[in-house]
Amino acid sequence: MAGVEIARCLCRGTAFAELLPRARVEGWDLPALMRETGCGAACGLCRPYLRRMLATGETVFRELLWEEGAR
Ligand code: FES
Repeated sequence: MAGVEIARCLCRGTAFAELLPRARVEGWDLPALMRETGCGAACGLCRPYLRRMLATGETVFRELLWEEGAR
């Protein structure tokens, strides 16, 4: 899909680039990140991006991701 760029939790308005260093310092996994920041805990659409961010260190995504089993 051309032009798509996902770089933040829309519900909290927090950029992944801001969340990643905090997660690295605190040693958060996804549930801890959700608990501490609220990101991924509202609509949940950013959750697969947060999961990948924690795994790979990416903070800007140009593809659409879905949770396993969500489609
Ligand atoms: S976009 Fe992150 S919880 Fe809704």
